[in-house]
Amino acid sequence: MSARSVRAGFITFEGIDGAGKSTQIAHTVSLLEQRGCAVLQTREPGGTPLGERLRALVLHEPMHLETEALLMFAARREHLAERIEPALQEGRWVVCDRFTDATYAYQVGGRGLAAEKLVTLEQWVHPGRQPDLTFLFDLDPAIAAARMAASRAEGDRFEREQAVFFERVRAAYLERARQCATRFHVIDATASPEAISHEIGDVLAARFFS
Ligand code: TYD
Repeated sequence: MSARSVRAGFITFEGIDGAGKSTQIAHTVSLLEQRGCAVLQTREPGGTPLGERLRALVLHEPMHLETEALLMFAARREHLAERIEPALQEGRWVVCDRFTDATYAYQVGGRGLAAEKLVTLEQWVHPGRQPDLTFLFDLDPAIAAARMAASRAEGDRFEREQAVFFERVRAAYLERARQCATRFHVIDATASPEAISHEIGDVLAARFFS
């Protein structure tokens, strides 16, 4: 099916730090472009000049848990208004590294923010807008930590968290995937990069182009 006959999709990538999203995001963008789709590749927190400044704060400055959640949603509001909604309206696909599921996993699951507060923020900041498809890279935190230790000198505030934090984040992601089963596709992130790329290609074809 040609890209022109398909409504542009909003695709997000989620998972604990070190799960291997980055390579697969680039792969997804190139698969969509090969089908003739125009694509906005972006990330959260960030995606706009103001959002990137908020990202620098939230990743590196110590702060209260609720401040952290509010800054994530402040950056998200700006991102939706300035980049995501305009792109979708123009018929461009949006491939985003993390979105509200990350707040659910990290701030609610990892840090203990009350889930009702997230629901309130979600309804305020993006009523009626959810990703069309979310790839969740699921991985044992011990494996993710070993991958990160091999590739990075010093992590940000989240990457420096202990294994128990990432166990909670992982569990919250899997719970969210269970609650939103039609939107999520859970990937076993221990598989080879080639196998994961293949799986993503199959899911995109089945969901959007069949
Ligand atoms: P990411 O861009 O995946 O990190 P990196 O580029 O360093 O690999 O994500 C940045 C961090 O922000 C990540 O540890 C998860 C965290 N985060 C939250 O805690 N809540 C959120 O809502 C979002 C979007 C990210």
